[in-house]
Amino acid sequence: MSSQDKVKELIKLRETARLGGGLDKIAKQHEQGKYTARERIEKLLDEGSFEEYDMFVTHRCTDFGLGDKKFLGDGVVTGRGTIDGRIVYVFSQDFTVFGGSLSETFAQKICKIMDQALKVGAPVIGINDSGGARIQEGVNSLAGYAEIFQRNIMASGVIPQISAIFGPCAGGAVYSPALTDVIIMNEQNSYMFVTGPKVTKAVTGEDISVADLGGADVHTGKSGVAHFKAESEDEGLMLIRKLLEYLPQNNLEEPPVTVNTDPIERKADELNEIIPDKSNKPYDVKDIIYRVVDNEEFLEMHRHYAKNIVVGFAKFNGMPVGIVANQPMFLAGVLDIEASRKAARFVRFCDCFNVPIVTFVDVPGFLPGSAQEHGGIISNGAKLLFAYGEATVPKITVTLRKSYGGAHDVMSSKQLRGDVNYAWPTAEIAVMGAKGAIEILEGRAMSQINDPKELAEFMALKEREYIDKFANPYVAARFGYIDDVIEPRNTRFRVIRALQTIATKKDSNPPRKHSNLPL
Ligand code: HXC
Repeated sequence: MSSQDKVKELIKLRETARLGGGLDKIAKQHEQGKYTARERIEKLLDEGSFEEYDMFVTHRCTDFGLGDKKFLGDGVVTGRGTIDGRIVYVFSQDFTVFGGSLSETFAQKICKIMDQALKVGAPVIGINDSGGARIQEGVNSLAGYAEIFQRNIMASGVIPQISAIFGPCAGGAVYSPALTDVIIMNEQNSYMFVTGPKVTKAVTGEDISVADLGGADVHTGKSGVAHFKAESEDEGLMLIRKLLEYLPQNNLEEPPVTVNTDPIERKADELNEIIPDKSNKPYDVKDIIYRVVDNEEFLEMHRHYAKNIVVGFAKFNGMPVGIVANQPMFLAGVLDIEASRKAARFVRFCDCFNVPIVTFVDVPGFLPGSAQEHGGIISNGAKLLFAYGEATVPKITVTLRKSYGGAHDVMSSKQLRGDVNYAWPTAEIAVMGAKGAIEILEGRAMSQINDPKELAEFMALKEREYIDKFANPYVAARFGYIDDVIEPRNTRFRVIRALQTIATKKDSNPPRKHSNLPL
């Protein structure tokens, strides 16, 4: 064969590989409203940046007639490319080949790019669309999954790992995405579950659809397994690109600072009036977030889950930060099991990738009741407490209104190594709200008043006295627990200046194998 013929052969082989499972399977994929594995990569990465690895790999299995049924690439497209000029590694499961099912060699391809990403210090993005373990390969497929899981674990907190679910993701296969930092589900046709509807029915008798068992609504709204619900694959891929704008390439780097076009001294006059006069009246904390961050851009994570706390990424003067904010619009912004878990996970995500945390506090306390106590609010609330206390990134806290009881301590308080703790003049920092305090402190006096009108007047007077004395930021400020009481409209400038000042902060935890977070 001449060298020219050899080049032609290479080109032909590449063309064959690019067809995956063949034109009819590609057509079926498109009919279902899905992109192919390669189309997804093209849309995700900077144009022309993708370099594919292992295009000629085929499976080794000869059982069940697979000896002569081979596809170049074996059902997964792997390689590297760039997003906004920064290197990323990517794998994209190809449903046109054996339903994207995972074989021994398929797993080896994924492991290869994960190993290299870890050495280089670059993020890994996995696009999942697969029937799970390739049934014909038996235990080799299970071993392949476990090899990937082990790498997910080793890469955790070292390089960002992002998973997109753009099709089925079932059985143990869900555990690789679950080990990554962020899961994005396409609301059209993706689902995740450990045990599918058929087995669920057989074992428990429960009759449930695929979507109701593990669709995007379920995992972004109920279980909290997934962080983003995308309306389409295009939106999901765009979200991955956006997310990486806030993250460093690895844990040894700082998040990328970009040019800021929003004046740092921009005042937001409306913030001076945004807190309602009535302390129990709700308002949307996101109105505050949008007004103080650069260009009103806030990438909210976990938007549909535990809405009583808001988490997400934004920038201050071009510097990425993670934002955590109690949301008075839902359950008065109370901390419950789900909100604590959601925020704890986010705080740890920021901390492992050197992203400073800005916390906006308006929290009436922990949610009372047997459901919470029996569900483990103690250990779940402790997760958030632990996460804040362990985090060594710059931590800035702005108390907007309520900051009561244990929840005050938890929400990035001074004693949990909060670096700069500001409060608005509307802040109420105390052990508990006036009503609860009066019922305890004045219980004996109250029991001796029989006339309901007189009792109401007595309570109102005592509550007023308590509010005047404790429902303000100045008691805490007198003790130095608050560094300054600031005018709300200056919040943006004050936060930026604090961030600039403490950007070089160095803090550490004692040497140990690892901490024992109350899981
Ligand atoms: C081998 C598979 C496969 C699998 C699908 N295919 N899943 N081949 N192993 N796991 C093949 C089909 O035979 C078919 O081949 C092609 O992929 C497309 O599949 P269809 O069934 O035609 O597609 P669709 O109707 O869209 O249904 C998709 C599906 C279904 C819902 C994913 O295929 C399915 O239920 N697959 C099995 C899922 C499963 O139980 N996997 C094992 C889970 S246990 P042809 O040649 O006909 O086109 C597991 C353990 C992991 O994953 C443990 C890790 C620790």
